Amino acid sequence: MEEKQVLLDVKNLRTSFFTDSGEVKSVNDVSFHVNKREVVAIVGESGSGKSVTQLSIMQLIQSPPGKILGGEVWFRGENLLTFDQKKMRTVRGNGISMVFQEPMTSLNPVITVGNQLTEVLRVHHKGMTKKEAWERGIKALEAVGIPDPEARMKNYPFEMSGGMRQRVLIAIAVACSSELIIADEPTTALDVTTQAQVMELLMSLVQENGTSLIVVTHNLGLVTRYADRIYVMYAGRIVESGTAETIMKHPRHPYTLGLMESVPRLDSEKGEQLIPIQGTPPNLADIPEHCSFYDRCKYACEECLNKPHPPLREVEEGHCIACHLDVRGGREHA
Ligand SMILES: Nc1ncnc2c1ncn2[C@@H]1O[C@H](COP(=O)(O)OP(=O)(O)OP(=O)(O)O)[C@@H](O)[C@H]1O
Ligand SMILES: [Mg+2]
Repeated sequence: MEEKQVLLDVKNLRTSFFTDSGEVKSVNDVSFHVNKREVVAIVGESGSGKSVTQLSIMQLIQSPPGKILGGEVWFRGENLLTFDQKKMRTVRGNGISMVFQEPMTSLNPVITVGNQLTEVLRVHHKGMTKKEAWERGIKALEAVGIPDPEARMKNYPFEMSGGMRQRVLIAIAVACSSELIIADEPTTALDVTTQAQVMELLMSLVQENGTSLIVVTHNLGLVTRYADRIYVMYAGRIVESGTAETIMKHPRHPYTLGLMESVPRLDSEKGEQLIPIQGTPPNLADIPEHCSFYDRCKYACEECLNKPHPPLREVEEGHCIACHLDVRGGREHA
């Protein structure tokens, strides 16, 4: 078997926002890694800290009120958290690219798509002429499946559909020749068919260019079929991690079980009932000492209330849960 090479290694990352209502612990001791050519999904409900984790990696946290309080972000042998903004720009330029949730706000509304694309290309390929960059831009749009790319180069972002704008952003990430693409809810604003197309496009980049990919989403159903491994986030922490197959077939954290029952799956049968998880996540400015899922957990027992929040522990090779119990797909109660 080919040996796996770690591309990104995040260790004990902590990021908080200091607000009038106190310290909001958005990312609370998060560790995860991404191997070369690997697709990793970060899954969790709204407000669980998924975006703040990714923005911290890129040092794009607004400060104040935000602050990265600790941790390490290893990428190509260096800890990015020791980088200043100037050095970070070079990483954002050719190491890691981020494709955001709302493509309309990531593209400049008053510059044509072609000019934005050629500008990026010329920054990354010193000496490339405008004309050469324009030709490469057309190819890039073609590569992400935009029909009539010559004409589309002259469009302003508002003249394109949401799906097309998302493809333009992916084309820009490709033009940067990034080793890692972080796609934060890349498909949320899109209809189901376009969602699948954008995911297929990202997957083809992994296969053809050897890119690694982090997909951030609240839709467990969408990513299980694309991701190699999945990290489940809850209230600023990772609560379960494992291969996509393991998480899908044998989830062992009650929150993951809840997520499975609450989202439509691509392979779900018609008429299958979706059961939302009861209750709401804890206030991140006031997280309890005990397990943060306690209030919503249908398996919770006295131990869960009396012990501190459980650390992640390996329950089988490559499969970790942060739970005192081990509910194994809901069938057993250890
Ligand atoms: N600028 C900010 N000031 C204060 N709190 C913030 C700020 N940005 C994020 N937060 C808080 O950090 C927590 C995590 O937010 P984050 O955006 O990472 O959630 P998310 O998992 O990406 O959710 P979604 O699925 O809705 O995108 C939330 O409680 C949010 O309110
Ligand atoms: Mg988010």
